Amino acid sequence: MEAKIILDAISKDLLEVGKEVDKVLLSYFNKRKISPKRLNNSLVYSAIGSGKRLRAFLVIESAKLISKSNDIKAAYQVAAALELIHTYSLVHDDLPSMDNSFLRRGKPAAHISYDEATAILLGDGLQSLAFEMISDTDLGISSDIALLICNELSRSIGFKGMVGGQMMDLISEGRYEEVQIDQEYILNTQKLKTGALIVFALRAGGLIGGANDLETDLLSRFGENIGLAFQIVDDILDCESSEVELGKPVNIDNNLGKTTFVSVLGVEKSKEKVSKLINEAKMELNEFGNKAEKLLKLADFVETRKN
Ligand code: IPE
Ligand code: IPE
Ligand code: MG
Ligand code: MG
Ligand code: MG
Repeated sequence: MEAKIILDAISKDLLEVGKEVDKVLLSYFNKRKISPKRLNNSLVYSAIGSGKRLRAFLVIESAKLISKSNDIKAAYQVAAALELIHTYSLVHDDLPSMDNSFLRRGKPAAHISYDEATAILLGDGLQSLAFEMISDTDLGISSDIALLICNELSRSIGFKGMVGGQMMDLISEGRYEEVQIDQEYILNTQKLKTGALIVFALRAGGLIGGANDLETDLLSRFGENIGLAFQIVDDILDCESSEVELGKPVNIDNNLGKTTFVSVLGVEKSKEKVSKLINEAKMELNEFGNKAEKLLKLADFVETRKN
């Protein structure tokens, strides 16, 4: 019952963020007159109207938490750009040579609806469009903050971030060589492939709001904990949920032979790990008192979410 109440309140907030993100994105796509038509269509198909927009929510709420002014237009710009990066990661993650998944956000994956070549180019274009958006000072972000954010974002998605984690994830399937995977390996994989972008979201919001070093550290540690919990829950849902509820196939990890906390510890122990991470995350925000309410609710959502 309590879980349901948490879900309902936060779902409404996420829905609102989703609408704003769609507005910002569609207006930017129009401004840039994306072509050829096939690329524009695949962009709208993949990036608009779906996804939980959790990372966007984190940028906006961390900016609101820190900022002393009500003008957080730049947060919406960065939030929307970050959702483009996230969408790129999913489009490529689903490719036949990666997780080979046919369904994403309740509809055929980009490489199924279009083709593999289009999906690869779409992912490439999504990535560069995100950097273009953040560095487009016409949209309201100051150039010094834009530079810092571009630098953090490029690091969080690169070799030492998401891309590195995705490679470690594929290695953990044993597709290249026989490897002994221990819990530290899984931890590092998940921190990089999923955690880095979530930490970025919070730090970016902090940068926009003018966070000091202590505030930035607290937001980062909150992000590290919920980021890791988020991926463990994703792995739990992969074995416990259904295709209809998730909008993506289930049992992917098992079928691919991926090593995850769930495959090593089992579902129950993984759930305990998630609870612990969420409690630790929430403690990092004690300093902010009631002002952090939305981020605290989001942390609960990460634990109790059903998709
Ligand atoms: C899926 O992320 C990829 C992972 C890092 C597990 P989300 O579950 O946030 O995907 P959308 O954006 O809601 O589709
Ligand atoms: C994805 O992890 C992490 C990314 C960086 C895209 P998964 O491969 O588990 O995500 P889903 O389950 O396909 O959404
Ligand atoms: Mg994957
Ligand atoms: Mg996948
Ligand atoms: Mg998964």
